[in-house]
Amino acid sequence: MIASGELKALDSRKERHPESRRESFGNQKRVIRKAEESHPGEVKDRYCYRWGIMDIYGKYRPAMEEVLQYLAGRVEENGKSENGEKLYEHLSLRIKSDESMREKLQRKGLEENEKNALQVLKDAIGMRVVCLFVDDVYECVQRIRNFERLKVLEEKDYILDAKPNGYRSYHMIVEVTSDEEDVDGNVPGHFYAEIQLRTIAMDTWAALEHELKYKKNISNQEMIIQELHRCANDLAACDVSMQTLRKIIRQIP
Ligand code: GTP
Ligand code: MG
Repeated sequence: MIASGELKALDSRKERHPESRRESFGNQKRVIRKAEESHPGEVKDRYCYRWGIMDIYGKYRPAMEEVLQYLAGRVEENGKSENGEKLYEHLSLRIKSDESMREKLQRKGLEENEKNALQVLKDAIGMRVVCLFVDDVYECVQRIRNFERLKVLEEKDYILDAKPNGYRSYHMIVEVTSDEEDVDGNVPGHFYAEIQLRTIAMDTWAALEHELKYKKNISNQEMIIQELHRCANDLAACDVSMQTLRKIIRQIP
């Protein structure tokens, strides 16, 4: 939850700038973005609407939140194997921040508008399912394919076929129907989400690699790339061993 001190700071900023829409718009946005980073979703809902600042998703944000909660709810309901064991370790949910979405649209040469953010790019809504074992990843994928309201548009198996840098994960792009209107005016509306499924080991690697990727001006790039690749392979070998151990343990009467 956002701390009340931070809320006060945001409020007093508004009081100090009663006509701030024009004067300190950039400043407000910076403050909001900073708070938004530590409290995803909360600040925008609270302040952007109140101050009349719409993010890139405009009026579709509540529908997006509903779709995200729907996906999480369905995974939670279907999150146990036949013998009652949890199929995943944890879920993480996010709506791509206004800033990252704009950055991605720019990078792809697309105009910054709702249609491109919600329909052309299909990862504004994102869910990550992190499992203990590789088998569980595939079991979750199978279950997700059968969810109501959901159609799978694309699947990429970077576990079977790791990226050249060693990245492993299973990706699904799905279309989810919503009672709410979509950007084309359809009711029920169509929204898109990216679901990433991976083991804890794969998730750990991706988080570390993501962190290192943004460190600029590294002199020994080549060695770092090689080492990252080696770590990815070591972790993949661990996943196989853990999977085998579970099989052996399950066979013991
Ligand atoms: P985008 O243009 O980013 O949507 O790429 P894409 O459509 O080819 O999708 P891809 O399935 O390759 O990647 C989608 C997402 O997976 C990224 O936004 C990252 O969250 C994650 N991802 C893909 N490759 C890597 C990688 O090498 N390292 C890490 N840490 N994450 C990755
Ligand atoms: Mg993508």
